[in-house]
Amino acid sequence: MVKRIGILTSGGDCAGLNAVIRAVTLRAINQYGWQVYGLRDGTLGLMKDPIDVVELKTSNFDGNLLRMGGTFLGSNNKGKPFGKITRSGKEIEISDLIIDSFKKLELDALIGIGGDGSLKLLQSLTKKGNINFIGIPKTIDNDVKHNELSIGYDTAVDVATNALDMLQPTAASHRRAMILEVMGRDAGHIALNAGIAGGADVILIPEIPYSIKGIAKHIEKIRGEGRNHALIVVAEAVKKEDGKKATVKFVDGEVRLGGIGSYLGDKIYKLTDAETRVTVLGHVQRGAQPTHRDRLIASAFGVKAVDLIANGKFNRVVVWQDRSVKDVSLNDIAGKSQTLSKNDPLIEVATALGIYIGDIN
Ligand code: F6P
Repeated sequence: MVKRIGILTSGGDCAGLNAVIRAVTLRAINQYGWQVYGLRDGTLGLMKDPIDVVELKTSNFDGNLLRMGGTFLGSNNKGKPFGKITRSGKEIEISDLIIDSFKKLELDALIGIGGDGSLKLLQSLTKKGNINFIGIPKTIDNDVKHNELSIGYDTAVDVATNALDMLQPTAASHRRAMILEVMGRDAGHIALNAGIAGGADVILIPEIPYSIKGIAKHIEKIRGEGRNHALIVVAEAVKKEDGKKATVKFVDGEVRLGGIGSYLGDKIYKLTDAETRVTVLGHVQRGAQPTHRDRLIASAFGVKAVDLIANGKFNRVVVWQDRSVKDVSLNDIAGKSQTLSKNDPLIEVATALGIYIGDIN
């Protein structure tokens, strides 16, 4: 019997999503002879009439999709699959509409590519609809539990490292302290990894408290050693000294993380007289061309996800552990994020390199 599977990308996009959709399609068609359907814009495509879905063929991937950032299926980090909407004057439950569309497509299983939040929503949805589900972790934040590498993370670290490479010469030319604010939500993975790779002097992550005085002391030390500039990386969720997160209220009324870089710039200038400039890296961390590692992880995850379906294993999430792809229960992952452990070996490396990473002891 020919199997029909659906695939969707959910939550914030990142590099490597097209590569994983490709891997799923190639494996499902070439190995098992299944039909693969791409669901558009996360679950939003299933709310449309007609349902917004496209059958994927291996020929879709003849071109350069493997190499491209973003997701050609579209994604969505706002749509909530639960709640009510009005259709033709009638109030209906959104999840019922989505599940109904899924059933109409006669799909045997769903592969959902998302972060911890999306996986949680998809878990509730597929449980309600009795849908066979496999999750694939993606997020530049790299905060999915039990998983060493999420799709998109490596590229984001690369982009942030390149930014430091470009900030260093201009910092030196103008004798400045350059502050780079990076994404990552409540996890400091991007900041820590890019900070070490990009030669930062100061790395601030949400997991470790810091003091402006500590940063100032470190800048004085650098000066004392005869260097005229400094590089500072800060993760977006690092708190101000009063313990509050720096946030920006957008015109749509939503409050998002942002502004910790400028806050630090002012404080550091006042205390050290070092001229500071702030770069907020933002969404370039998400839209870049995937690195080789992201393409590899994506390819390995896609193949494994299809094989799990072929073996009748459901409610699992594929993960990267000890240099190979494994699968763990969706229950152990959905909605559970993983920030940096204080014992992370790279924190020790940063300290050993003389980087100020906060008041650790
Ligand atoms: O979770 C991924 C992420 O890129 C975070 O690092 C960042 O805080 C957030 O999404 C940005 O979301 P948006 O695309 O809604 O601005």
